[in-house]
Amino acid sequence: MKERLQQLKEEALQQIQSSEDNKQLQDTRVYYLGKKGQITEVLKGMGKLSKEERPVIGQLANEVRDTLTEALEEKDAELEAIKINKQLREEAVDVTLPGKPAQNGGPHLLMEVIRDIEDLFISMGYQVAEGPEVETDYYNFEALNLPKGHPARDMQDSFYITEELLMRTHTSPVQARTMLAHEGRGPVKIICPGKVYRRDTDDATHSHQFTQIEGLYVDENVRMSDLKGTLNALAKHLFGEDREIRLRPSFFPFTEPSVELDISCKVCGGEGCSVCKGTGWIEILGAGLVHPNVLQKAGFDPEKYTGFAFGMGPERIAMLKYGIEDIRHFYTNDVRFLKQFHKA
Ligand code: DAH
Repeated sequence: MKERLQQLKEEALQQIQSSEDNKQLQDTRVYYLGKKGQITEVLKGMGKLSKEERPVIGQLANEVRDTLTEALEEKDAELEAIKINKQLREEAVDVTLPGKPAQNGGPHLLMEVIRDIEDLFISMGYQVAEGPEVETDYYNFEALNLPKGHPARDMQDSFYITEELLMRTHTSPVQARTMLAHEGRGPVKIICPGKVYRRDTDDATHSHQFTQIEGLYVDENVRMSDLKGTLNALAKHLFGEDREIRLRPSFFPFTEPSVELDISCKVCGGEGCSVCKGTGWIEILGAGLVHPNVLQKAGFDPEKYTGFAFGMGPERIAMLKYGIEDIRHFYTNDVRFLKQFHKA
């Protein structure tokens, strides 16, 4: 029995040493030290021993048990340490790896175009004015010489909120609001950028919401030649010194006479191509001399004051300038599209 115990001890110690994980170790423990384990098995034969032998074997069995328990604990700790070290190695953060670069935002292309135009006019002594997007029928139409039932109202299909309130269809109502605030005294020299709304079906060239920039200059002796000079400066600033401009007669209820500004087509140099639809000219904006009715309604004496006004769409300008073919690109905000126009 003594030998058997010694033998079991040697065998068990070896197995403990060669265990590679906690599971193996646990199996070894059960196999030797468990309730039905090898040692218990040996001790079953104690009954056959003499009185003298029994305590000796008992003590030896206890010693073997203690030795094995200790060896198991040690090995367990060793395996645990190996496991933790391995985990630490695997989860280690390499602080020398390059970080993910932060994505820098930038102004939206439309914002860039609007600011560029603002800056030009500020340099010419204009101030930036703003007005509400929810506008009254009076300012949006009536004050601009568009009484109820005027056929030109149809050109601007509107989102009405009530009979008298609507989403403004253009930035022109800011003209009337600003003039009223000046209480009949010039000069008034403003540009007003902002959002406008129309009941249009969205497609490549239409959007139910877009932006406009309105311009207004009212003073004594403001003439058509002042308008032409201003628009010439704008066209060249936006599209380059080599562009020609022309003013073409048009109609707007709030200006008399009314014109449209065209710039020469750069693609064909005036010969006529698909971009300019064969005319050699591209339409940029509407303008004119402020209608006396509009001045009067806004508290300005048309005998004393004259003025010019213009209204343009920054989307259209950006589309022409950068060859963008679909107005919806401005609003769907695909970062791949927007990024192309970020300055460094
Ligand atoms: N309000 C016009 C529109 O939305 C644009 C416009 C044309 C504004 C002529 C003006 C102007 O101030 O003089 O179509």
